[in-house]
Amino acid sequence: MELNGAVAIVTGGSEGIGKAIAVALKNEGCNVTITGRREASLRTAAEEIGVEWIAGDVGVEADAVRTVAEVIEKHGRLDVLVNNAGYGVFKPLVEMELGELEGVYRTNVFGAFLMAREAARQFVKQQSGELINISSTSGLKGGRGSTAYSSSKFALRGMTECWRDELRRSNVRVMLVNPSEVQTEFFSKVGRNQELSDKKLRGQEIADAIVGALKVDNRGFIPEFSVFATNPF
Ligand SMILES: NC(=O)c1ccc[n+]([C@@H]2O[C@H](COP(=O)([O-])OP(=O)(O)OC[C@H]3O[C@@H](n4cnc5c(N)ncnc54)[C@H](OP(=O)(O)O)[C@@H]3O)[C@@H](O)[C@H]2O)c1
Repeated sequence: MELNGAVAIVTGGSEGIGKAIAVALKNEGCNVTITGRREASLRTAAEEIGVEWIAGDVGVEADAVRTVAEVIEKHGRLDVLVNNAGYGVFKPLVEMELGELEGVYRTNVFGAFLMAREAARQFVKQQSGELINISSTSGLKGGRGSTAYSSSKFALRGMTECWRDELRRSNVRVMLVNPSEVQTEFFSKVGRNQELSDKKLRGQEIADAIVGALKVDNRGFIPEFSVFATNPF
C-alpha cells in the first residue's frame, strides 16, 4: 500500500511497541492517531512524536466506537488499524482469580474485537483497509504461569484467522504479528524484572517489520509473521 497520506490508528501508542509503530508510520507520511487510557502520558507521547491522540479504553465499547468515529470524521477515511494495546497477568492456575483472567481478555481479546469491528465497518464501505493485530510468541505456545496472557493471544490469533477470511473479500488485509521478547515497560508492570541488552529486540524492529509488510503491493500480503532477536544470548 501507499503509506504516504494514509490514515492510521495505533492502540496503546503512548509507549513501548505501539509508540515505535506510531513513529515509523508517521515517518512514512501517515496521519497517525494513538490511543491509551492514561491521558497525561498519551498527550505527552503524542506531542513528542507529533501525532494525534484520543484517550480511551479499547475494552469499553463506547470508547472504541468513539475513537474510530472521531478519526473517520476528521480524516474522512481510515486505512490502517494497529491493534496493539495489551497486557498480561502471569500466575499459576491455582492462584489465578477469575477477575484477572477477565481483565486480560477485556483488553487483549474484547478490546481488539471492538476496535477491529469498528474499523472493519469502514474498511468494508471503502473496500480497502489494513488490520494489524499484535499478538505474541506466547500466542503460539503456552507455558506455566501464562494462562491469561497466552490464551488471550491464542484467541486473538483465532479471531485474526476469521477476520482475514471474511475481509479479504473486501480487499482488506488482516495480519498477525508475533513479537518475541521486546524491551518495554510490559514486564515491570507485571512485577517482572527484564534484563536489558543491546542484543534484545526494541519496539523499532517490530515497527520496521510492520512497515515492510504494509508496503507490499496490495495484490498480496503476509498473513502472519514472528519477530525474534537474532542473537540475544
Ligand atoms: N514487550 C514484549 O516483550 C511483547 C512481546 C510480544 C507481544 N507484546 C504485545 O505487544 C503489545 C504492546 O506491548 P508493550 O510491550 O509495548 O507494552 P507497554 O509498554 O506496557 O505498552 C502498552 C500500551 O497499551 C496501552 N493500553 C493498555 N491497556 C489498554 C487498554 N485497555 N486500552 C487502551 N490502551 C491500553 C498502554 O497505555 P495505558 O496504560 O495508558 O492505557 C500503553 O500505551 C501488547 O499487545 C503485548 O501483549 C509485547
